[in-house]
Amino acid sequence: MQAILSIQKLSKSFMLHQKNKRIRAIEDVSLTLHEGEFIGITGKSGSGKSTVLKCIHRTYLPEAGEIWYNSRLYGPIDLAQASERIMIELRREEIGYVSQFLNVMPRTTAKELVKHAIVETGRDADYAERETVRMLEHFELDRELWDSYPATFSGGEKLRLNIARAMAKRPRLLLLDEPTASLDEASKGKVKVLIEQLMGEGTTMLGIFHDLEFMNHLCSREYRIRDGRVLA
Ligand SMILES: Nc1ncnc2c1ncn2[C@@H]1O[C@H](COP(=O)(O)OP(=O)(O)OP(=O)(O)O)[C@@H](O)[C@H]1O
Ligand SMILES: [Mg+2]
Repeated sequence: MQAILSIQKLSKSFMLHQKNKRIRAIEDVSLTLHEGEFIGITGKSGSGKSTVLKCIHRTYLPEAGEIWYNSRLYGPIDLAQASERIMIELRREEIGYVSQFLNVMPRTTAKELVKHAIVETGRDADYAERETVRMLEHFELDRELWDSYPATFSGGEKLRLNIARAMAKRPRLLLLDEPTASLDEASKGKVKVLIEQLMGEGTTMLGIFHDLEFMNHLCSREYRIRDGRVLA
C-alpha cells in the first residue's frame, strides 16, 4: 500500500495576545494514511484533533513539521510549504473537508452550492445536476429548501448540506471533523452509507468522530491524541 499522506512532527501553537501567552495546540504529531484507508482521530475536547485536520487543509499554517501528500495533480507535495495557489487547486479538486462548524456561503442556494462544488472539479453541468439531486435526496434535504439560502437552515440541515457538498465532489482525500455530531440516528445512517460508498470507490478518509461506536465500525485504525500529542 502506498502512503497518500505522511505527516511528520507537525506542530502548531497560537499566541494569545491579550494574555501574552502561547498555547501549544499540537506538538510533534506524526501519522500515516495509506491509499483507500479510513483512519480515525480521537481524544478529549481541546486535545488538538481539529488542529491536525486544519493544518492538512491549510486553514491553519503549520508552524513546524511536514505534511507529505501524494497529489494526483502535483505528485508528492509538502502541504506545510505549498503555495496558497496550489492549496486552492488541491481543495478544489482533491482534498475535501467537512468542518466541525458551519460556514456556508451567503447568497448561494443549497442546490447551487452543491452543484458549483461538483463543476469546480471539472465535471460537466449535466453530471453535476444529476449528482446534486442524488445527494440532496440521499440526505433528505426537504425539496422546499433546495432553492433557499442555507443561512436560515437548522443546524442539522446545514450539516447535511455540508456533508453532501463535500462528498459530491468525490475527493481523493476527505477530512471529516465530527460530521455526525449534531445529527439524529437516521441522518447518521445516511452519512454511514455514503462513507461506505466512498470507501468502496477508494476514497481515503481521515475523520474525527464524537460517536466512537459509529467510528469503530468504519475505521481501520485510530490515532489517539492527548494534549496535542499522538499516544503510542
Ligand atoms: N485559532 C485558534 N486560536 C487560538 N487557540 C486555538 C485556535 N485553534 C485552536 N486553538 C486551541 O488549540 C487547542 C486545540 O484545539 P482543537 O480545536 O484542535 O481541539 P479539538 O481536539 O478539536 O477539540 P474539540 O473536540 O472540542 O473540537 C485548544 O486549546 C484550542 O483552544
Ligand atoms: Mg475539534
